[in-house]
Amino acid sequence: MDQIVIQGGRRLKGEIRISGAKNAALPLMAASLLTADTLSLSNVPHLADIATMARLLAQHGVEVHMNGGAENGFDGGVLDLKAGTISSVVAPYDLVRKMRASVLVLGPLLARVGEAKVSLPGGCAIGTRPVDLHLHGLELLGAEIVLEEGYIHASAPKGLTGAAVVFPKVSVGATENLLMAACLARGETQLINAAREPEVTDLGECLIKMGAEIEGLGSDKITIRGVEKLHGAEHAVVADRIETGTYAMAAAITDGELDLIGARADHLDAVIKVLEEAGVTVEETNRGLHVKRTNGPVRGVDVMTEPYPGFPTDLQAQTMALMSTAEGAAMITESIFENRFMHVPELARMGANVNVHGASAMVRGQPQLTGAEVMATDLRASVSLVLAGLAAQGETVLNRVYHLDRGYEQLEQKLAACGAAITRRRAPQ
Ligand code: EPZ
Repeated sequence: MDQIVIQGGRRLKGEIRISGAKNAALPLMAASLLTADTLSLSNVPHLADIATMARLLAQHGVEVHMNGGAENGFDGGVLDLKAGTISSVVAPYDLVRKMRASVLVLGPLLARVGEAKVSLPGGCAIGTRPVDLHLHGLELLGAEIVLEEGYIHASAPKGLTGAAVVFPKVSVGATENLLMAACLARGETQLINAAREPEVTDLGECLIKMGAEIEGLGSDKITIRGVEKLHGAEHAVVADRIETGTYAMAAAITDGELDLIGARADHLDAVIKVLEEAGVTVEETNRGLHVKRTNGPVRGVDVMTEPYPGFPTDLQAQTMALMSTAEGAAMITESIFENRFMHVPELARMGANVNVHGASAMVRGQPQLTGAEVMATDLRASVSLVLAGLAAQGETVLNRVYHLDRGYEQLEQKLAACGAAITRRRAPQ
């Protein structure tokens, strides 16, 4: 296992290229199952989760070619995916348990070949992560679903039929599974109370390039008219708004100044509003975003996570790190996941003052955090500890960095290039 070692207290200055979004690339890769032609994705980030999805698709019979990517000096990898024939409809436990997004092969397999056997993903550190909304929606499209021995057995021997699907709560994954399945269903499907995340819109725009008939992307009501088949397409993965928000907070917490190349301000309204209230300037440039602290310390700002366009839950831990160094207090409420405060005890080891009451955490800003040895528990919690380490006095050692590798491409390289004293090493046995 690797460790990341940070000597804190350095201001970040320079520019960081924002990678393609992990949470867009994963459903886009699953969409390749919907056609026998080649789907060519560019600006694909080089991440562990992408490799896991590629392995999962390959065992379904998809030919996967990754040409390009950071190691070849490319900006973003090009991934060609061709599901000429589906050789297996099974998504096995050992792959699905590594990455919950594997459940996104369910809708496309059902739509393409009328059958799927997908391991239940199981929970993860941040919550039980049920998939009931995915299954109920697919049943409304005519799928027969049986849960047996930890697997979802889904079948639609006569194909799927369009229907009105009302989601009782907003679900990104369920919206994406139903969006893909409905493309090849007979007739019209309406997804009501659909997720509006930019990654859902990016998937929909790619499906339209593949020949799908979709309206209402970005709204909470998406209408899909099924077609006979879909064809190949070329699509560039949308920039990662969560990576953008993470590095914007890195600039703020170190009192630095960063240019985030390729960042899209229009996907970060709620985040920019919070940062500006906290005393951080976020300016749009023709290359992306320029971020710096206006003057004086960061001010405490209350935050509540909500479905898009609200404040993203995937930036909650990073915001807590930033508020731990603010002047004043901040109430941070997590309304999406039931257990997404694992970073609190680790931040406390660095001197943060955070009191959790149910879904809310009261953060009282401290003038100075101190470096410590800490443990990563999940992807976004891990990066909140990196942010705290960048600002803390002394050395921070972060263990279990495999969590980070799932979602942040070249994290230490991007930060070191802007002046951070950050290195990776093999953990002592
Ligand atoms: C996606 O997860 C993202 N993952 C998550 O990012 C992100 O935090 C989440 O959306 C919310 O924005 C990917 O896109 C791969 P949901 P997803 O379905 O689709 C409940 C990261 O760090 N729910 O929108 O699994 C669920 O428990 C990851 O990159 C049901 O009850 O999230 C949660 O409380 C973490 N039944 C809420 O809905 C269901 O069938 C939102 O979940 C599905 C979800």
